[in-house]
Amino acid sequence: NQRNERIKNHRIKKHMPLHKIAVLGGDGIGPEVTREACVILSALQDSLPELKLEFTEFDWGSEYFLKTGRMMPEDGLEQLKSFDAILFGSAGSLEVPDHITLWGLRLEICQHFDQYANVRPSRLLPGIQSPLKNIGPAELDWVIVRENTEGEYSGAGGRVHPKLPQEVGIDVSVFTRDGIERVMRYAFELALTRPKKQLTLVTKSNAQRHGMVLWDEVFEKLKHDFPGITTDKMLVDAITTRMVLQPQSLDTIVATNLHADILSDLAAALSGSLGIGPTANINPERNFPSMFEPIHGSAFDLVGKDLANPLGAFWSCVMMLEHLQENMGASLLMSAIEEVCQEGRHLPKDLGGNSCTGEVTTEVCAALKK
Ligand code: IPM
Ligand code: MG
Repeated sequence: NQRNERIKNHRIKKHMPLHKIAVLGGDGIGPEVTREACVILSALQDSLPELKLEFTEFDWGSEYFLKTGRMMPEDGLEQLKSFDAILFGSAGSLEVPDHITLWGLRLEICQHFDQYANVRPSRLLPGIQSPLKNIGPAELDWVIVRENTEGEYSGAGGRVHPKLPQEVGIDVSVFTRDGIERVMRYAFELALTRPKKQLTLVTKSNAQRHGMVLWDEVFEKLKHDFPGITTDKMLVDAITTRMVLQPQSLDTIVATNLHADILSDLAAALSGSLGIGPTANINPERNFPSMFEPIHGSAFDLVGKDLANPLGAFWSCVMMLEHLQENMGASLLMSAIEEVCQEGRHLPKDLGGNSCTGEVTTEVCAALKK
């Protein structure tokens, strides 16, 4: 019996690891939606006793900055390193300039933890209305893979002649062959797992003749390693019209940090609302924890009103569970989100409903219990 017990414990240990999750609510409605996400994940654990998650909350962000002069403590990254994943809310407040909040927390984490693949799925969930006419779930099912550590967000540049009339501000986009190749490989491999097996490269290599041309060249070379993938190329301006006019013609998209930032907002709006869009900031080698967050940001106008849409945070939890290889939990949670959208009785305001944040959470919890 003791032996059986030991084997059982060993199995539980081996196959059902405890996942340590760092929760960084941050600013604006960030803490409101991460709090709801923790409620949902706890409910999921009740339905799936073998799922073991442990949450540790951090109060870093703009309020912390106003008290300490830093968005996170000096050893913040060191503290986060030992976690299996990070659940992030938002960075950005009215009291602290945006470039400080972002570079002090979110971008600091993405860059130092080498989370170079930013994955942003957009799917028109059943029951959700797209602003596009006559389209259903089958016509809008995309994943945008955003390069997440360099490009236009490299941070390279400077100011010359400070405060004089001839002052200059320079931001340098940095594109490295390695950086391009690794995110493209990730995108090709992701495309392989999708029904259409199609990857679209987005650049602006007609106007930007150095880094963007390097993107084109790396793509041309790499595509021979993935003969199962249908590929095409679009300029970033042209793809915006294609997203609107022929959404069904797209599948997986790979683009630079800034281009994909812009396209993913459009993608989220076309799939119903910015409030529903999820993100994974992935370090594929798993040398560092990956980070999961809704794409909506701080949304100051909604703070404290119980109007935030928590579905983007819940969907981000699905991505987190997938990354942690908790596929059962991931698919249960995604089904619960889909069921609540399909029923349509308890949707948040931005998706055309009347429900407050907590009511949406309660509905998703009820769907999980089924
Ligand atoms: C996003 C956001 C951020 C970005 C901002 C807040 C800096 O828009 O996650 O898409 O541009 O990366
Ligand atoms: Mg954005």
